[in-house]
Amino acid sequence: MKINNTSLNKKNVGETVTLYGWVNKKRDLGGLIFIDLRDRSGLIQLVISPDTDIYEKASTLKSEYVIKVSGKVVLRKDVNHNLKTGEIEIEVSSLDILNKSLDLPFDLNNMTALEENRLKYRYLDLRRDVMKNNLIIRHKTVQVVRNYLNSLGFLEIETPILCKSTPEGARDYLVPSRVNKGSFYALPQSPQLFKQILMMSGMEKYYQIARCFRDEDLRADRQPEFTQIDMEMSFLSQDEIMEITEGLLYNVFKEIKGIEIKLPINRMTYDEAMEIYGSDKPDLRFENPIYDITDSFKDTDFNLFKNIITDGGIINALVFEEAFEYSRKDIDKLTEYVKTYGASGLAFLKYNGDFTGSIAKYVDEGIKGDLIKKLNLKNNALILIVSGDRKTVKTAIGALRCKMGHDLGLIDNKKYAFTWVTDFPMFEYSEEEGRFLACHHPFTLPKDIKMLSDKEKAKAYAYDIVINGYEAGGGSLRIYDPDMQEKVLEELGFSKERASAQFGFLLKALNYGCPPHGGLALGLERLVMILCETDNIRDVIAFPKTTSASCLMTEAPSEVNASQLDELHIKIKD
Ligand code: AMO
Repeated sequence: MKINNTSLNKKNVGETVTLYGWVNKKRDLGGLIFIDLRDRSGLIQLVISPDTDIYEKASTLKSEYVIKVSGKVVLRKDVNHNLKTGEIEIEVSSLDILNKSLDLPFDLNNMTALEENRLKYRYLDLRRDVMKNNLIIRHKTVQVVRNYLNSLGFLEIETPILCKSTPEGARDYLVPSRVNKGSFYALPQSPQLFKQILMMSGMEKYYQIARCFRDEDLRADRQPEFTQIDMEMSFLSQDEIMEITEGLLYNVFKEIKGIEIKLPINRMTYDEAMEIYGSDKPDLRFENPIYDITDSFKDTDFNLFKNIITDGGIINALVFEEAFEYSRKDIDKLTEYVKTYGASGLAFLKYNGDFTGSIAKYVDEGIKGDLIKKLNLKNNALILIVSGDRKTVKTAIGALRCKMGHDLGLIDNKKYAFTWVTDFPMFEYSEEEGRFLACHHPFTLPKDIKMLSDKEKAKAYAYDIVINGYEAGGGSLRIYDPDMQEKVLEELGFSKERASAQFGFLLKALNYGCPPHGGLALGLERLVMILCETDNIRDVIAFPKTTSASCLMTEAPSEVNASQLDELHIKIKD
């Protein structure tokens, strides 16, 4: 059996051992040759003396050669405190070169290597400590999750990868069927319908480390294929589902980070999150709430604000004591930034006993006193103001809040800030489709069935768990009454025929004894990103895709030959 480099220590001094691994580094000092031998467990120093008959072979070694060595464990003269095996070294007496390596396309010890190269030569990239440790953390996280859910009586059940296409939510990845000409499977965006069916089958508590596929625009925290810690439970309340999730997160953070998170996790409603932080995934690692100062300007002569208030719009402000010195140029840059979120502009004030800034001349004594009180102003404060329709203002100022938090270094990277966001809207308007869609999904239980036709106001038993400004997971209670499900689909614009064609199996199953149920899915990669302290989702996936959804190592996706297409009855359009 191969022994791990780092299992050796000074207790092994005098023993002869055989080790395998990669040449991490070679130092040839003209006399002795020193090699750092690397295996998955870590490094150990090898020494080859000019008196040995392997010396010549050892001098041909280069970085990343794979070797087998035997030798005696001896004490080192100069202890290396940075190394787990720093008290010992191996006096090598036999050396086999098992595999050579070409010169590397990038330096494995230099973290600034181009990501394109890292993805193309992923097998080399994964040899680096950071990447290896990320994969170890991912592995351990899944083990903690499995142990925890098993201990609560959950069953791990796999659901299909070749599914029926249900075009709600993101775009499906489609797989043509050879046997059924013109028909397609879809890869699952999540196991949502199957896990609900499992509740109707009486499984009561289900989980799965589930692969999901979504053909959507990619971002730093999104991949076309990703993994969910997917759960579903029968006969439990929303509070109980949240409590089980909190226990899961508690165990993960304790085992992986040694941190005991404070339970219960803070809760706020969706409306509160949007009002105070301008986001349904607020980053609570720093304060700086959004203030509504519409009222302070209700009698203003400033036409812009006056018109906005008359049109039912709002005026919101952020206060940063750390940004008092911001120049006009700095503010111009922020103005461009909020414009990318649809805001028409950015007004600012500086407070130092008196107000200066772009709208200072409109701040009369009344407004002054009001702002000082409302914004709790202290000297040397920068006030950033966005005005307009409610939705645009909240989105733009919420994004500005996060940008300022980053720019001013207000975010404590060692802190973990958790919150639940509850009571999500039942529907959300899609500009693209010109209609209301389900905000979570069409199977979410409404808070009040009587409110359903008020699409702007209807709320759902839907909740997200947010960590450090990331939506780490989301879930809901589900509809278990067939009439209610029909009504919701109707509100979403589904005809009876279309509902039956797409979800007929679920609608039917609701009629055969369906328990009340609900669940949640955590994004495994998002969780592991937070645990690994990286903001790049590709750093926690062994073989990720680029932002254009391709794999640079295997060069997928790729063209297929004509006979394959023929078999699938597919013709590519010019
Ligand atoms: P939802 O769509 O909110 O819910 O997804 C749950 C969690 O999955 C993660 N996630 C992603 N991670 C990486 N790349 C992506 N493209 C991506 N999309 C989503 C997020 C998100 O919070 N079936 C429901 C869950 C339920 O109701 O039980 C669902 O899929 O962390």
